[in-house]
This record gives sequence, C-alpha cells and structure tokens, in this order.
Amino acid sequence: MNIIITGASKGLGAETALHMAEKGNHTLVLISRDIKRLEALKDRIAAINPSTKCILLPADLLNDEDIKLVCDWISSEFSVIDILINNAGLLINKSFADLDKGDSHAMMKLNFMVPSLLIRAFIPLLKNSANAHVLNIGSMGGFQGSAKYPGLSVYSAAKGALAILTECLAVEYAASTIKFNCLALGSADTEMLRMAFPEYKAPLSARQMASYISDFALQGHTFFNGKILPVTLANP
Ligand SMILES: NC(=O)c1ccc[n+]([C@@H]2O[C@H](COP(=O)([O-])OP(=O)(O)OC[C@H]3O[C@@H](n4cnc5c(N)ncnc54)[C@H](OP(=O)(O)O)[C@@H]3O)[C@@H](O)[C@H]2O)c1
Repeated sequence: MNIIITGASKGLGAETALHMAEKGNHTLVLISRDIKRLEALKDRIAAINPSTKCILLPADLLNDEDIKLVCDWISSEFSVIDILINNAGLLINKSFADLDKGDSHAMMKLNFMVPSLLIRAFIPLLKNSANAHVLNIGSMGGFQGSAKYPGLSVYSAAKGALAILTECLAVEYAASTIKFNCLALGSADTEMLRMAFPEYKAPLSARQMASYISDFALQGHTFFNGKILPVTLANP
C-alpha cells in the first residue's frame, strides 16, 4: 500500500512507520522537517523489512511553499494513495492569556489546517484506491466531555476541530471509497509530552500507542467511518 505519514521523524509518527514496516511491504512517504532523523528512521526500517520502500520528504508544514511542494510532488509521483495519516502536531503549553497570536496560529495551522489542506490535495489519489483511509491523529483534549487541563486551550480546540472535520468529510465522501476516522489519543511517552509536562509519567510508550495507530490505519476503516475514537484508559 502507499501510505503517507506526517510528523514521521520521531515520537508516534516514527514508531507507526516502524510498526508498518513490521506488518507488510508498503511504500511509506515520510514527512517532517528533520531530514537526519528521517534518514536514521529509513535505516531502521530497512533493517526490519528491506522490502519497505521509504520516500523521505523533508518539509516544514507550517510553510505554505513547503506544503505546495509536498502536495505537487506526491501528486506527480503517485496515482494512488491508500492511507494518509495526519500525525504531525504542535502543542504549546501556555495559559490562554500568555498564548500570543503566533502560538495560536501555529497550533491551529499544524493541528487542523494542514490536515485539511493535505486531505483536499490528496482526495483525487485517495479516490483511486479501492479502500482508502484518512486517519487524523486527534487528542483526548479535543474530545467532548473529556477532562480538560489549563494550558491546552488552543491545542485542544484545534484537535476538536480536526475531529469534527473527520465526521463531516465521512458524510461528504460517503459515496466514495474513502473512509475518515480520528483517534483521540490519551498520553504516550514522546518528546512532545515530555516537553509539555516534564513531571508526568505517561501510561503508554510511544511504541505501544503507535502499534495501535498502525493497526487501526491498516484495518480500522473496515469497521469504522466518520468516528472520533478515544484511545485512553482515563475516565472521562
Ligand atoms: N504524545 C502524546 O501523549 C499525544 C497525546 C495526544 C495526541 N498526540 C498527537 O500525536 C501526534 C504525534 O505527537 P508526538 O507525541 O509523537 O509528538 P512529537 O514527538 O513532538 O512528534 C511530532 C512530529 O511532528 C513533526 N512536526 C512538528 N512540527 C512540524 C512542522 N512544522 N512540519 C512538519 N513536521 C512537523 C515532528 O518532526 P520535525 O521536528 O522533524 O519536523 C515530529 O516528527 C500529534 O498530532 C500530537 O498532537 C500526542
């Protein structure tokens, strides 16, 4: 399958790519800014499964020119995309009063606008797959009725917007072969979480959470479409 993963250089994106390489012979298009980390990931993937093809696209998805380059390049090189995982995300843990315009704009853009732009750009390629899946990586913070935390207002709102977009697109593309789902993740041990909450010990490793993401990306759309699924042991 042809699979795009944004935010693949580390954390959940990198572990998802590794898990996918263990599961089959896919073509993985791996996007993030840090080319050195992407190259190291490619080496690890080659050691796990030499039949996995990795295409590395270094890009800053907060930069409109980079977004256009990524979309144009993929659209010219591929006729079919089977899975798009919108995983790249940004969390700036600051009180609402302290968030400046740049912080808020960056979080809304990377967590919501970029997934929306990539989905729109790749709809023609996703439609060419017999069984396409757009998997948006949301957060429990953006899940209605979940526990909320100070410092996560705009991040959570952006993830909430991504979740509702998922529901809407499943309806709008119901007649197509494309399924849309959103995983509202609880916490997993990654750089993002450690930077935002240095004292907190996550209940899951990045690898554990990524194995769920990878399996769900490959299989979840057989059972779900337009769903926002909480992936957490926490209540609410
Ligand atoms: N970890 C958790 O507990 C948790 C909980 C709920 C939801 N999530 C969500 O899960 C997703 C993955 O998070 P994570 O914890 O794995 O975070 P992470 O370790 O910080 O990884 C984030 C990834 O996004 C990429 N990225 C960041 N800014 C980018 C930009 N401007 N352009 C392109 N790529 C960019 C980073 O790569 P570069 O730095 O190389 O660009 C990195 O590969 C995010 O959407 C996050 O909101 C995580």
